[in-house]
Amino acid sequence: MHDKYAVPVHVAIIMDGNGRWAQKRGLSRSEGHKAGVKTVKLITEAAANAGVKYLTLYAFSTENWKRSKEEVNFLLHLFVDAINGYLDELKDKGVKLNFIGDLDGLPYFLRKVMQFAKNETKRGETMTLNIAINYGGRREIVQAVKKICESHVKDINEEQFKQFLYTANQPDPDIIIRTSGEQRLSNFLLYQSSYSELFFTDTLWPDFSKEEFLKILEEYKNRKRRFGGA
Ligand code: IPE
Ligand code: IPE
Ligand code: MG
Repeated sequence: MHDKYAVPVHVAIIMDGNGRWAQKRGLSRSEGHKAGVKTVKLITEAAANAGVKYLTLYAFSTENWKRSKEEVNFLLHLFVDAINGYLDELKDKGVKLNFIGDLDGLPYFLRKVMQFAKNETKRGETMTLNIAINYGGRREIVQAVKKICESHVKDINEEQFKQFLYTANQPDPDIIIRTSGEQRLSNFLLYQSSYSELFFTDTLWPDFSKEEFLKILEEYKNRKRRFGGA
């Protein structure tokens, strides 16, 4: 199982620390989120160039609605601007944009842009970029169970169950990275993360760099994945 030269097929990132980054500079949380979008561009490019096939970025959780109305509103509009501002580059690079989460719970103005961007990039073959938005691992699992109950499926195994998740047809993440020093999953990819290698860094998301990302990919090569074997 241990491949010294392996590039992870699927990398997932909990992009955390925008608020603290801004606070440290005496800026508003919004400024932190804006700075975070720049990092998204850098890391997407770095991942695609490194040969990663799936990159999943946690942008907004089902719990993030607890934040102030101002912050939530700012984020929802920032997603629109980020998608619009990045679409041409994604197309050029052959990145296929995909969204995972309880998308029906998002406002129409955002869903419209998401749908458009997804369609525009659907031929991308370099890498799939999943944006986890209004995403919660527990909600994903419960929604999968509901879909199964409504289907004609009589019996189910672990592989079939996966087909009812938002990440159907995608491999599980090989790596999950969390920035900002917190060491928890915060409801991210609960089913899919069973055997993911976890990486935690104190770097705040707006300061996370291509260099640090590539260092983690290097470190991954030295991890011995056993998947329960001896
Ligand atoms: C992550 O940064 C971005 C989102 C959750 C949308 P935070 O906004 O959680 O930043 P901190 O954790 O408050 O520093
Ligand atoms: C996780 O970060 C969600 C995203 C990065 C989108 P949070 O900042 O919401 O997580 P907690 O509240 O610290 O667990
Ligand atoms: Mg946070």
